[in-house]
Amino acid sequence: MTAQPLDVQPTPLALLLLGRESDTSSERGVDCPGDLPAPSDPDLVERARAAKAKLGERVFVLGHHYQRDEVIEFADVTGDSFKLARDAAARPEAEYIVFCGVHFMAESADILTSAGQQVVLPDLAAGCSMADMATAEQVAECWDVLTEAGVADVTVPVSYMNSSADIKAFTGRHGGTICTSSNARRALEWAFGQKTAGAGGGKVLFLPDQHLGRNTAVRDMGMSLEDCVVYNPHKPNGGLTAQQLRDAKMILWRGHCSVHGRFSLDSVREVRDRVPGVNVLVHPECKHEVVAAADYVGSTEYIIRTLEEAPAGSKWAVGTELNLVRRLANRHADEGKEVVFLDRTVCFCSTMNRIDLPHLVWALESLADGRLVNRIQVDDETEKFAKLALERMLALP
Ligand code: 13P
Ligand code: SF4
Repeated sequence: MTAQPLDVQPTPLALLLLGRESDTSSERGVDCPGDLPAPSDPDLVERARAAKAKLGERVFVLGHHYQRDEVIEFADVTGDSFKLARDAAARPEAEYIVFCGVHFMAESADILTSAGQQVVLPDLAAGCSMADMATAEQVAECWDVLTEAGVADVTVPVSYMNSSADIKAFTGRHGGTICTSSNARRALEWAFGQKTAGAGGGKVLFLPDQHLGRNTAVRDMGMSLEDCVVYNPHKPNGGLTAQQLRDAKMILWRGHCSVHGRFSLDSVREVRDRVPGVNVLVHPECKHEVVAAADYVGSTEYIIRTLEEAPAGSKWAVGTELNLVRRLANRHADEGKEVVFLDRTVCFCSTMNRIDLPHLVWALESLADGRLVNRIQVDDETEKFAKLALERMLALP
């Protein structure tokens, strides 16, 4: 029997996964629209330097802590998502903000910068899987469920910075605030202070990271695990009864970080056996049992500061993104501080890692040649309400 030629056309999903088609509600699978230099090009560093020098003060390059070393080398400032958005806003003379981070961060920078500034994301496929776990339609549906259950009036949305501009705008429209991992407690305290009356007292709808919401409520604010319910957008009514919603204080969206969510209690036990005397330091995006078993918990900036202040001879197992942990291990090795990665099987944030030197060179050279590429622009209506929510965060005590 002769083999028949296969006449198989790729499905839309296959094209999306191959990076050939775009998903309009996220940035997954968007091909670079230009000619990228080859990763093996030996002149990449020189080309990035030359393009940056040609642009001079017109460009400001921001680098998130989770970016690759080869990219961080060209950042004018580094920081967490909140600090970078503020840094961008404090640079009104820069015509172009090149954001080496992920899409929601570039959106926040666009919202907080002036109309004359243009924000560029070197690779449009650098999205965030956590931010993609809450879409505007799903969140609107959730609000309808809360309204049906009679609790929307006493609920304040608090959205993590790691969310799309649409979700930030929803938050602003419904009287809520944005938070980061460094001010989540202050944001929750503020939110509970807004609504105290009604069925079951004030509530918070926390989007989209269930772990940061739960860890802040239980570990930092003394609530119980029973005070928290998880709203699953893939189930009818979020998988919750009206009574469960009425009884809850924290309604947690069922989202998580695909990097931090992989650290486990076993990782903590294994590192304590492997490195006697080790201090376990983790990000609050990790699961509750990991955070409960850790010695220190805090945001990216907190992790950096804690290691800076640590005494020589101390040992640390760090549960956050690998690019940052590797950089911190190298930085502190000479001071006699041992820094290891919490779990040897967890890998880099794949979307953060999409920004590499070829994409950065392509973006900088395009701008230097007068071509604006990969602009991230939030529409006016979304920007108005997202900014309101961001400004509430900036005004937190
Ligand atoms: P921060 O930048 O606020 O530390 O958040 C961690 C993170 O996962 C960013 O994507
Ligand atoms: Fe998103 Fe997690 Fe990657 Fe941060 S580390 S960009 S939260 S997937």
